[in-house]
Amino acid sequence: MAFLCKWCSGAAAELAGVSRLLYSPNVIPIIVPCSGRVDPDLVVEAFINGADGVIVAGCHTPSDCHYIAGNFKAFKRVYLLKKLLSDFGIEPERLRLEWISAVESQKLKTVFDEFTSTIRILGPLRAETRGGSV
Ligand code: FES
Repeated sequence: MAFLCKWCSGAAAELAGVSRLLYSPNVIPIIVPCSGRVDPDLVVEAFINGADGVIVAGCHTPSDCHYIAGNFKAFKRVYLLKKLLSDFGIEPERLRLEWISAVESQKLKTVFDEFTSTIRILGPLRAETRGGSV
């Protein structure tokens, strides 16, 4: 699952579509107003409900963020979440933060493809880790 800031990474996803770039079809893009709006609960819910990996992508620098410091907030949240995930037996590599501007559709494709490969190597998240039974 990929949470994409509407102004940058989401626009890059649209450009990738218009440019007919093929990226891993098992990435589900979800457009959010800003990477800073991706609450840690959303990431945890994504894992509980079946995501094997989560990408959060936003604008490059705080000055690029349309909400001033949303991407800085995302940076701090993802940093802390990665530490918490490993405490729950979830590999931190299953969560990735990226800065992708509106014109970087090729980077978006590369990130999606690389991330999918990483998740394939890690394998599916175990049901007991999600809080379910085996
Ligand atoms: Fe893109 Fe905030 S508007 S990260």
